[in-house]
Amino acid sequence: RAQREAVVSRHGQLLEAANKWYRQQLRTAPAAIAYLKKRGLSGEIAARFGLGWAGPERQGLAAAVEDYNDQLLVEAGLVIVNDEGRRYDRFRERVMFPIRNARGHLIGFGGRIIGPGEPKYLNSPETPIFSKGTELYGLWEARQAIRSAGMVVVVEGYMDVVALAQLGVECAVATLGTATTPVHVQKLLRASDHVVFSFDGDKAGRRAAWRALEACLPLLRDDVSLRFLFLPAEHDPDSYVREFGAEAFRAALREAQSLSQFMLSELASRHPMDEAEGRARCVHDARPLLQAMPAGALRLQVQRELAQLTRLTPEELGQLIPLQDVPSG
Ligand code: GTP
Ligand code: MN
Ligand code: MN
Ligand code: MN
Ligand code: MN
Repeated sequence: RAQREAVVSRHGQLLEAANKWYRQQLRTAPAAIAYLKKRGLSGEIAARFGLGWAGPERQGLAAAVEDYNDQLLVEAGLVIVNDEGRRYDRFRERVMFPIRNARGHLIGFGGRIIGPGEPKYLNSPETPIFSKGTELYGLWEARQAIRSAGMVVVVEGYMDVVALAQLGVECAVATLGTATTPVHVQKLLRASDHVVFSFDGDKAGRRAAWRALEACLPLLRDDVSLRFLFLPAEHDPDSYVREFGAEAFRAALREAQSLSQFMLSELASRHPMDEAEGRARCVHDARPLLQAMPAGALRLQVQRELAQLTRLTPEELGQLIPLQDVPSG
């Protein structure tokens, strides 16, 4: 326990030192500043999110944080050792997004390339203090806005979070390029009882929304609201809010689909519902979803709507999809 705390604290100090250096580098990097300006971001918002710049030098960071031991730099994912044993900075020529946990402790970075090249985003690797599948970018920065808005908006990308904040929608957080997990949902529901997922309008975004729905099902409660906002196909929240403005985005949030609407309309869209076979397959597909839901009023409502949709009586549906009586937490 005490050992764990020591590890967390050593990593945290190193990451803070690295972040300080990245932020300093940004001040004297015209190309990076021009890039952020082009994306509509002010210096003020860059400062609020602690954005920085990792320059092109192969050993820039390593030299800047020389008080820290080499092994820790590697363990923290800031330095890579290649096959010949040569050490070089993991993040080079990237705009740096510091990632904090819910308590505000720095746990990793995401870095975006500003020109052409691959990968577009590079994250810290899994480290003793960083796990991509459980953290939400921006949760700490958004904590007050989430409280006053009474909602948290979940988006796909770092840039979506920062662009929304730039235009006054400050209650957004992002998954770190991974699918939404039940741990994410737990954290979201701890932050607010009203969650709106707003992924990119493309096919990948739609798939990501379905994965998010699946992660939400076991954690549903009758006193929470989980919604899904689908943007026009060519947009993500960043491009949408910059083209149409914050008011349009807020209006879209108010119109977001409920989880049950999304679930039932998606199920119905997969098969020909005017045929017995299509309705049968719909019941088949719905089975694991309904069974993942805790007992409660919402599950009863969904059951009833599914029965209508598939033209079964609730009793028939209940026989086809037996449900356990496990109440929500
Ligand atoms: P911009 O092009 O800067 O607007 O980024 P975006 O956030 O719109 O990118 P996109 O929709 O393609 O991806 C959403 C999120 O997925 C990003 O914010 C990253 O977290 C992650 N991601 C995208 N591309 C990569 C990549 O090449 N590697 C990794 N590891 N993650 C990526
Ligand atoms: Mn509420
Ligand atoms: Mn995308
Ligand atoms: Mn995107
Ligand atoms: Mn984008």
